[in-house]
Amino acid sequence: MSAVSQILTVERVSELRAALDVARRDGGSVGLVPTMGYLHEGHQSLVARSAAENDLTAVSIFVNPLQFAEGEDYGTYPRDMERDREMCAAAGAGLIFAPPVEEVYPQTPVTAVSVKGLNAVLEGQFRPTHFDGVTTVVAKLFAMLGPGRAYFGEKDYQQLAIIHRMAADLSLPVEVVGCPTFREPDGLAMSSRNVYLTAEERPAATVLWRSLQAGRDAVVDGSRDPGEVEAVMDAVLAAEPKVSPDYAAVVDAATLERPDVLVGELRLLIAARLGRARLIDNIGVDCDRL
Ligand code: PAJ
Repeated sequence: MSAVSQILTVERVSELRAALDVARRDGGSVGLVPTMGYLHEGHQSLVARSAAENDLTAVSIFVNPLQFAEGEDYGTYPRDMERDREMCAAAGAGLIFAPPVEEVYPQTPVTAVSVKGLNAVLEGQFRPTHFDGVTTVVAKLFAMLGPGRAYFGEKDYQQLAIIHRMAADLSLPVEVVGCPTFREPDGLAMSSRNVYLTAEERPAATVLWRSLQAGRDAVVDGSRDPGEVEAVMDAVLAAEPKVSPDYAAVVDAATLERPDVLVGELRLLIAARLGRARLIDNIGVDCDRL
């Protein structure tokens, strides 16, 4: 039997819990990789990490309407379930949870999980309802699956920081594991939304990574002024006229606040629009280890 025919795909929470109960009966550990599908090697690196650290890896594939605002790409978000099944199987997943919307939201939820402060900065300024949609669905997925560990990419650094904080604040019995960003050979961070880029736009997309590297180099070279580092990033972005930046920021890696003087662990983050796509990327630098 091929790996893809062995991977169990369930759509209902009742089937999911039954399958996970079997996996846990003899003390087996469960790792969860939450996704919105249209998988790429970045997602696969999370699945492979989970498969190495847990007895069973479950991948959820659910395009969560709650985290999209009016006018965003919920209706056109790319989907390819057959290919996703193959990619999950190849990376070592044992179970796919792919619920229809009404299984996750049988009624309009009036309960939300909101990680205040962290949800309002950076991406939150441009997508004010986004992170409450993310935290609410991730909390629901944790409740549905009860994983011992859950894997998230640094690609969405603010999301990772918010989920870490949610798990700590709510004493959730899950270890949130952050995983490095998987990139194309030219540095572009892999994303399901890269499919929106046209052939003409695609080379310009590398400007995010180039700008982040220039910002990090400025810190490595001794700059401790956030404004100076952001100006370096802005200048690289400005040299690519196809790209319209939303922000290029340097913040404290844990609080996501902009310090007056750069110290300790930092994160440089960029969001920019390019044609139909809105791209985000980030990089870390630790001032104490330079
Ligand atoms: P999605 O964009 O499908 O991403 C699923 C997971 O894959 C996230 O943790 C994301 O950070 C990670 N990921 C995406 N691109 C990556 C890359 N190039 N390298 C490493 N990891 C990468 O993020 C979401 O879905 C949703 O918000 C979700 C958490 C599933 C809630 O709906």
